[in-house]
Order: sequence, then C-alpha cells, then structure tokens
Amino acid sequence: MINRGAFLLNDVIDCGGCHTADPSKPFAGGVKFPIDDAGHFVTSRNLTSDPATGLTLTEDQFVEVMQTGRDFSNPGQVLLVMPWPNFRWMTTDDLKSIYAFLKVLPAQSNVIAADDKGPAAAQGPVPLPSQYDEGEETRSLPPATATDPIAPPGASNAVPDPGHALLGAAIMPLAYSKMPSFSKRSAEEQESFGRGSYLVNAALCGDCHTNVGGQPRDLTPGPDFLKIPADAYLTGGTPYTVPPALNTPLMVTRSMSQNLIGTSGYFNKDDTTYLAFATLIGTLSHADDTPPLSIGWPMPAGHFRNLPDQDLMDIYTYMKILAEDYDHTGQVDKLTQDPARYCTSNADCQPDQTCFVDTSSDKSVNNQCLSTTCTADVDCGACQKCTNGACQAPSSTDACLTTGL
Ligand code: HEC
Ligand code: HEC
Repeated sequence: MINRGAFLLNDVIDCGGCHTADPSKPFAGGVKFPIDDAGHFVTSRNLTSDPATGLTLTEDQFVEVMQTGRDFSNPGQVLLVMPWPNFRWMTTDDLKSIYAFLKVLPAQSNVIAADDKGPAAAQGPVPLPSQYDEGEETRSLPPATATDPIAPPGASNAVPDPGHALLGAAIMPLAYSKMPSFSKRSAEEQESFGRGSYLVNAALCGDCHTNVGGQPRDLTPGPDFLKIPADAYLTGGTPYTVPPALNTPLMVTRSMSQNLIGTSGYFNKDDTTYLAFATLIGTLSHADDTPPLSIGWPMPAGHFRNLPDQDLMDIYTYMKILAEDYDHTGQVDKLTQDPARYCTSNADCQPDQTCFVDTSSDKSVNNQCLSTTCTADVDCGACQKCTNGACQAPSSTDACLTTGL
C-alpha cells in the first residue's frame, strides 16, 4: 500500500505542490491561498507524521476528508482549496494507500496558521453520492455501494477492474451520447480510455485545464454545486503567476493552462502524436520551439514523466478520443496563450522580443518578454494583448490575471 501511495503521490498527483511552502520541509504545508478579494484565505496543512503539527487524522477520518471535504480543524466546514471533489472518486483502496504513504513521511515540524474563510465558512461537507453526478450525465458506479465504488481485490463485492477502467469510464464528465463514434472503438481503446480517465480525473488535469470565471467547476452552493462545466472541460485558459523564487530557474513569469480537447486544442492538432506528447512531458519542455522553452509552472510534468509508458499512453488515448469523438458544438474553444517569459534584460528574450521592465508599475505585470510582432493575442504571452502588431503587457487590473480567458 505504501508503494501504491508513493506511486500516486510521486507520479500522478502533485499533493506536495500545494502542501510544501519550504522545499526543505516537503509536505509540511503552510502555503497560503487567497479565496476571495476581501482578504480571506486558507492555508495548506502539514501532512507529515509530526505528532504536534502534522497529520493527526485516523485512516477513516482521512478517507472521509477525501470523500466529503469535511474540515476536521474547523467543525461543520468544508475544505475550500483542497481538490477533494476530484480525489473523492478514487477507490477507497487508493485513498488508504495515500494515507499509508503519508504516515511514513519524515516528520517535519511546521505550525499551520488558522484559516480565515469569511462567508465561505458557511458551506459544510458534501456526502459522497452513490452515483457520479458532477458531469453532463449521472452514472452509476461499479459496483454501486456508496462508500466503496470499487471494493478491494478479494472482498465479496469486488469487481475485477484492472487499472480502474470501469470506474474511470463512470467518472468521465462528458456525455457519451455526444460521442456517437465511441461505441465503434475497439475494446482495447475503450479500456485504455477508462484507465486514462481514472488517472486524468484523479490527477487533476481537469481542475487546472478547465476554467469558467476563474473556477474549474461550479462552487456556488445549490443544486449545481461541484458540477463540472461540460462546455469548458479541458479547454484551458487559467492563468498562473509563477512564484518569484521560480522566475529565474524557469524563466517564466506567468503561464496559462492550455486548451487540450477543444476544436483548436492540443490533442486536436494533427502533429500531436503520442511521441510528441511523451517528448513534451519527458523533456519538460516545448521541444517544438527554438530554443525549447521549459514547460510552464505549475504543470506537473515532472511528476507525469515518471509514469510508466502504459499510463502515459492511457492518458493520451483518453485525451485524443475526447478531442476526436466528442461533439464540440457549443463548447468553448479558447485560443490559449503560451507562458510569458521572465526577463531582466533583452538578452533573456527571443530575438524578436523586448524585455518589459517598468519599475513604476505593478510587479505582477513586470519583467516579461514582449513580442515585437503579432497578429492576434494568441501570438503573445499569457494574458498579453496584441496591440498595433506588438504584444503589450496586461494592466494590473486586467481580469485575465485573476479569472483567465
Ligand atoms: C490545489 C492545492 C492542493 C492540492 C493539489 C492538495 N491539497 Fe490538500 N489541502 C490544500 C489546502 C489549502 C488545505 C486546507 C484548507 C482548505 O482547503 O480549505 C488542504 C487540506 C488537506 C487535508 C486536511 C488536513 C487536516 O488536517 O484536516 C488533507 C488530509 C489533505 N489536504 C491531503 C492532501 C493530499 C493527500 C493531496 C494529494 C492527493 C492533497 N491534499 C492535494 C491544498 C491542496
Ligand atoms: C497544476 C495545474 C496543472 C495540472 C494538474 C495539469 N496541467 Fe497541463 N498545463 C498547465 C499549465 C499552466 C500549462 C501551460 C504551460 C506551458 O504552456 O508551458 C499546461 C500545459 C499542458 C500541455 C501543453 C500543451 C501545449 O499546447 O503545448 C499539455 C499537453 C498538458 N498541459 C497536459 C496535461 C495533462 C494530460 C494533465 C494531467 C495528466 C495536466 N496537463 C495536468 C497546468 C496543469
């Protein structure tokens, strides 16, 4: 179980990305996340085994957190930033494996500040539904028990489901009725699609690559709470400001999650072969650029590059089939932008770019390369505008910086 947990946390899910403020104390939490414009925030918790400041939840409580979002530190409340709405669909076995791995992490002492959630404190935990109900159509889970979508191997109600292909197929947010040619695909392709779906929907590709008004899903309390917007699923457009400490190593100041399955998305391009995708992930860079730019933070390619070929292939199959088979009529098709490169002088930029440094202006829009030639916004860096044939840095009040395209 520890090995399975290590695989999930090192290769698939970047828990540490949010739960590590100080790289010398991995998984010790302390990253502050603003949750509104009024100054309210939550802080990621210490997941290490430190008895005083670390994870004190029992295994059952941990599973409950992952499946319902229950915030044991703030009674009656729900976790707001923690992506439990994705993790809840993992098998209980996988959740327990993650717990087993966390329990053997070296203890790191790190006191976590209390949250200040403001009005959002009113939202309580959400029981795990017995059916998948976050997408375009509601589906039953295999086998349909509320707490354990797929029983552990050897249990009396176990369904053989290697790679969780059945569960993955059930938790796919889009409607199969809008994929008329899917049923004509071979059994192998459909299984690969299901396994890929389990990885994608647990690995959070969706949450980063889906954006409606700055959110990956509907977070307004009410009947549609947690619903994933089918028209925007995996069409990208979420901006990320790269933490200053990473500017120089990555030479990126701002990035934008890319359109993956929309009509003009990455996986709908003719030259997106498995090899091209595997090279992008494996080299952590856009090999098609000269010189190749590193892939923009926070895309966890450094995790995905550790995946066995078969898993990466399943993810590719999942994306490619959605790109090809799903009827995109009415779906948002975003022309997403490449990362804005970080610079301190023109020498850091491409030959046809200049370095924008205006010390009087807001830091968040400073130190970025601007192209001197463009025909549309899509030719510019993330959130930049093409104005009179040249890219322009956004103003610090530009909505794109917070809610994206
Ligand atoms: C997008 C950032 C993000 C990711 C990714 C993330 N977390 Fe969290 N997590 C948080 C934040 C922030 C909190 C606490 C506050 C909140 O969300 O309201 C939290 C809270 C938790 C808690 C509650 C701890 C307690 O003491 O009550 C657990 C357990 C947890 N995370 C485990 C995980 C695991 C395991 C993973 C990976 C499978 C993970 N998190 C991935 C941001 C994240
Ligand atoms: C934490 C957020 C995050 C997660 C999780 C994430 N991505 Fe990304 N992804 C990004 C960002 C930001 C970019 C833009 C980086 C760039 O352009 O260099 C990106 C870029 C990409 C690209 C490059 C597309 C292009 O046009 O060059 C691909 C392909 C991709 N992601 C696939 C995936 C897949 C598949 C998963 C899940 C297995 C995933 N991403 C998970 C944030 C994320």
